[in-house]
Amino acid sequence: MVSQWQITNVLPINNRLEKGIAAFPEEIPYRLIKLYSYKGETILDPFMGSGTTLKVAIELGRKAVGYEIDIELLDVVKKKLNINQPVLVGNRPEFEIIIRNDIKHLRTQLQEKVAKTIRGDKKSGCKK
Ligand SMILES: C[S@@+](CC[C@H](N)C(=O)[O-])C[C@H]1O[C@@H](n2cnc3c(N)ncnc32)[C@H](O)[C@@H]1O
Repeated sequence: MVSQWQITNVLPINNRLEKGIAAFPEEIPYRLIKLYSYKGETILDPFMGSGTTLKVAIELGRKAVGYEIDIELLDVVKKKLNINQPVLVGNRPEFEIIIRNDIKHLRTQLQEKVAKTIRGDKKSGCKK
């Protein structure tokens, strides 16, 4: 038996929080977390990006742990998880953010690398 999910992509949405991040729709982690875990269990996202999986996990009553190599996504993650925002109803979830010293500025580094490559190609007259 084949099951097919019809889920709308978030990438074409204008002014979305996760600009420049390959975020997926909340519906995907929502279904998978509900399928494979119980309330109170811990969800791990080793490639956290903007924190979509963590957001949905917390909303579904799970604990959540995320790793992200790019420090430049921290503000987006904080916004998505409403860290530092007042809580209107219920208790505030507890958050701990650990920043390692080998963290990268990945997006800036990659943009610089691409710009350098394009400049190099133009100088050498290379056409692609
Ligand atoms: C496709 S995005 C994840 C999107 C995320 N699930 C969401 O919906 O917002 C993948 C992320 O993995 C991060 N990443 C890549 N290599 C990593 C590593 N070795 N450790 C931690 N994060 C890494 C990238 O910086 C990127 O933000």
